[in-house]
Amino acid sequence: MEERVITNHKLEEDTFEKSIRPDSIDEYIGQEDIKQNLKVFIEASKMRDESLDHVLLYGPPGLGKTTLACIIANELGTNIKTASGPTIEKSGDLAAILSALEPGDVLFIDEIHRMPRYIEEILYSAMEDFSLDIIVGSEGSSRNIKIDLPPFTLVGATTRAGDLSSPLRDRFGIISKLNYYSVEELVAIIKRTGRVMDVNVDDAAALELAKRSRGTPRIANRLFKRVCDFALVLGSGSVDLEITRTSLDRLKVDEIGLDDTDHQLLLTIITKFNGGPVGLEAIASSIGEEVTTIEDVYEPYLLQTGFMKRTPRGRIATDLAYEHLKISKDGQLF
Ligand SMILES: Nc1ncnc2c1ncn2[C@@H]1O[C@H](COP(=O)(O)OP(=O)(O)OP(=O)(O)O)[C@@H](O)[C@H]1O
Ligand SMILES: [Mg+2]
Repeated sequence: MEERVITNHKLEEDTFEKSIRPDSIDEYIGQEDIKQNLKVFIEASKMRDESLDHVLLYGPPGLGKTTLACIIANELGTNIKTASGPTIEKSGDLAAILSALEPGDVLFIDEIHRMPRYIEEILYSAMEDFSLDIIVGSEGSSRNIKIDLPPFTLVGATTRAGDLSSPLRDRFGIISKLNYYSVEELVAIIKRTGRVMDVNVDDAAALELAKRSRGTPRIANRLFKRVCDFALVLGSGSVDLEITRTSLDRLKVDEIGLDDTDHQLLLTIITKFNGGPVGLEAIASSIGEEVTTIEDVYEPYLLQTGFMKRTPRGRIATDLAYEHLKISKDGQLF
């Protein structure tokens, strides 16, 4: 799959994310309810001198789950150890991670829904009574051993809460769903990034970028960085509305953050299938993509913004899509 500048998945070039990540809860913009509650829970755990309850963060890519996990550890004044669901393959892998924890540490497991089930089961007793039950030795001479662990806080992140087994989900005391950001919040994020990167960005430019960022800080920061490149080479180095528009047009990101693929997908439904309803398989073969790619990558934002709808008989392009693409219902451009 070709890399899209507006994808919410992490790209190679996003390594700069680390340097622009807020590291305290007050610098973290938006997600107000989650923030206010976490502040209380963190404060309470400190007052009781106990580890914070396990936290599950879920929501689409790029909304700040990893960032928030690091902030939780910072606010607790503890260390964070990180692991990723799919890379924990053997029970020994998890045992090694758990036994290296120090009291109060945050263990961050990213993509926790992709952890093998038998690993998940080891995690249950670790989460519940801070003990590790494992089988050691080989066939014939194997035995169960129980190792005490220090109290720790598991922070799990997932883009698909539905894929989490209920026994695992039930062991999290705090479950927070991250939502897409408002334009105002994205403006604040872009301005903050400008300050951190020491680049001037005016209000109109920040607003323009925010509107095209699909509610997602990762996309906002990535687009901003590209615009900074254009500003540096073609302009004065400062980011104003004109250079922002020029750059984003060149990157083929339209005024509401749709790119060529989004346009192509909507146009296919409208022109080849008369606006739908049409099955995903037909759309997929028509634009030469996998069904799962359309489902996981292309369609969520179109559904969320109401350009496309799911019906029992297939996908349809909504009036909003016709309007946005400037096509009248009888298929004429207007
Ligand atoms: N609330 C926020 N305030 C400021 N910056 C943010 C915020 N949320 C995210 N960011 C920025 O967006 C970038 C992406 O966030 P992060 O890596 O935490 O997303 P994620 O939810 O973990 O994504 P993934 O699901 O792909 O792992 C970060 O580098 C951070 O700079
Ligand atoms: Mg992450």
